[in-house]
Amino acid sequence: MLRQNPILDLSTEEQYMLGSYTLEKISQYLSYTDEVVVAPELIPSEIVQYAEQIDFAAPVKPQTAVQHVIEGLRRYQVHTAHPGYYGLYNPRPNFMGIMADTITAAFNPQLAAWSHAPLAVEIENYVLRELAVQFGYPRDVADGTFTTGGAEANMTAVLTALSYHFPKYATDGLAALEKPPILYASEESHHSLVKAARSCGLGTNSIRSIRTNDSLQMDIDALLEQIRIDRAQGFAPFLIIATAGTTGAGAIDPLMDIAAIAEHEQMWLHVDAAYGGAIVLDSEMSYHVDGIQQADSIAFDAHKWLSVPMGAGMYFTRHSRILNETFRITADYMPKEGGELHTIDPYTHSIQWSRRFIGLKLYLSLATAGWEGYRAVLRHQIEMGKRFREELMRSGWTVANDTVLPVICFLDQEAWERNDQHFALIVNQHVLSTGKVWLSVFTIHGVPTLRACFTNYDTSEQNMKELIHLLNEARSLYYSQRAHV
Ligand SMILES: Cc1ncc(COP(=O)(O)O)c(C=O)c1O
Repeated sequence: MLRQNPILDLSTEEQYMLGSYTLEKISQYLSYTDEVVVAPELIPSEIVQYAEQIDFAAPVKPQTAVQHVIEGLRRYQVHTAHPGYYGLYNPRPNFMGIMADTITAAFNPQLAAWSHAPLAVEIENYVLRELAVQFGYPRDVADGTFTTGGAEANMTAVLTALSYHFPKYATDGLAALEKPPILYASEESHHSLVKAARSCGLGTNSIRSIRTNDSLQMDIDALLEQIRIDRAQGFAPFLIIATAGTTGAGAIDPLMDIAAIAEHEQMWLHVDAAYGGAIVLDSEMSYHVDGIQQADSIAFDAHKWLSVPMGAGMYFTRHSRILNETFRITADYMPKEGGELHTIDPYTHSIQWSRRFIGLKLYLSLATAGWEGYRAVLRHQIEMGKRFREELMRSGWTVANDTVLPVICFLDQEAWERNDQHFALIVNQHVLSTGKVWLSVFTIHGVPTLRACFTNYDTSEQNMKELIHLLNEARSLYYSQRAHV
């Protein structure tokens, strides 16, 4: 095809050259990620200056621009793909996912309307259906949508729960409701719920933060008591949000008990399984989230434990019509649905309108790794977590959380007994400064603990032992420095 606009498009030859250059750089990065500093020291002014080195009034050659970005990203970011990144559920992206995002960008299917991107929509529907079944939803009623991430999936849950319980909400808004709606989540739940409550017009005061037990799970008695108080005071409890894998310590709320309460109280149950939901893929482990199949809706992120590039969230529901009732609007300017076929236009079914082909990265990953491939990865990471706990205890550390998921919060008994609030931060600072690992500090019931999550499928036994070594070294240094003060 004759190129009409050589400014925005490159010749076929230039595309090949730039494509192979970029791919080579990506491949090098993925092969040698363990050689970069996991979390480099970041000087904001230097980073701003780097970004502004490109002058839009003086365009550069395509390869120069790409090289600038790749070099900048190598220098200025926390490398979540590094095997020493024990972080916040961010994965090392698998290569099929990277290729999927490239294909998506090139074909740019418009998923707002079925008729514009029928195969893309059907691929997403297929992936959603198969995953919904893994979560225990009946195939014939399960419905869902891809989202940018867990935050959007959680907000979709709040909106659908409002529409379900207050049919006038869609037309008349919250102001028309007789009683103020209240939602319940544990004090360990993700803060995207706060944003959701604000964005849906409920406000933060509509959230009841339920205390947790020693295992950081939602306390059932506290939940029941709060619902009772709220009903007596004229509020309208409508939604319970349980978490399967809390962000801090990986706690799984008692889903069976919460499901029974939701049913008895006639409330919507949403399970935020953004991270921990992947465990349903392993039939030997899935009992840890028993009860999830009774949820009215579920949030799940493939860009966490399923290791696809961000963002790939999902919202599932067992109410086949609720997305339609919540989001459906028709617009004359939109292409019509697929003729006499029973198809649904995604824009009538979700918060987003124009939408990229989010589901392809999961489709291609599943197509090549299969359920069994993913199971092997989950088992490897859970096993790493188990061995890490054992090694920690052998070295005299105390594990402070209780979960099957590979998220480990730990502390030093002596520092804890002395109520030393600085220990975790100082030790963390020391291990981070080696450039070999990244961990965080998470406070459990007022005590700062060190937190390591096995979030990278490439993290090996050797990496784990190196982490133990660095931690022991940092702890010794801490005590020897204190002894000299
Ligand atoms: C339990 C939980 N829910 C929701 C979210 C938000 O997900 P996202 O960042 O994909 O929007 C997170 C993020 O880490 C999470 O851990």
